[in-house]
Amino acid sequence: MSKHRYQRIARLYDFLDKPFEFKRYQPLRGTMFEGLSGNLLDAGVGTGRNIPFYPADADVTGIDLSPAMLKRAKKRHAEVGSDATLLEMDALDCSFDDATFDGIVSTFMFCVLDYHQQLPALKELGRILKPGAELRLLEYSYSADPKRRFIMRLWAPWVHFAYGARFDRNTHEYVEQAGLELVDSRFVLMDVIRMIVVRKPA
Ligand SMILES: C[S@@+](CC[C@H](N)C(=O)[O-])C[C@H]1O[C@@H](n2cnc3c(N)ncnc32)[C@H](O)[C@@H]1O
Repeated sequence: MSKHRYQRIARLYDFLDKPFEFKRYQPLRGTMFEGLSGNLLDAGVGTGRNIPFYPADADVTGIDLSPAMLKRAKKRHAEVGSDATLLEMDALDCSFDDATFDGIVSTFMFCVLDYHQQLPALKELGRILKPGAELRLLEYSYSADPKRRFIMRLWAPWVHFAYGARFDRNTHEYVEQAGLELVDSRFVLMDVIRMIVVRKPA
């Protein structure tokens, strides 16, 4: 389902998201990769908006389900002179060996995955993470502020239609069940965007 949706929206994705990208997301993207090095994965790389923030000395692989989104990521990859590897792959069924990555970053992919996919996706990314390494997520949640929450509820049908995303995936609640440790779960933009840091036990 996600694949078809993103095949459809890919050509408009960056345009539609532009105001949010500059105001909200861009300042957060760099912090997602802070202190990470070695073999890294960007899960759900999309049109490659994290690419300019990849650490220069890291070996980064970006995966995505949608070839149309990847096509745009490849264009951005060429523009910024990145040497990352971009692959079409399902984050729920990766072809990587166990314990391949020193770090995994995933921005706004789990809000697209269905509720029943949250746990299997965490387990799969946990499988390919090295013991002691971190998985870092950037995800939306509903604001507790009644006015902001009301506005988010008005937006929700469009966000789901266009992106398959929901604001209430509550990914952090599945972390322990997936055999991972919750290191940090904190709001990084108002009380609507959360950075979730998870570690695979050593
Ligand atoms: C909302 S976009 C976020 C893209 C990018 N990470 C960003 O921050 O702009 C979600 C992306 O996740 C991808 N995606 C959805 N389900 C996936 C899956 N099971 N495996 C890999 N990618 C997936 C979609 O194709 C889409 O490109």
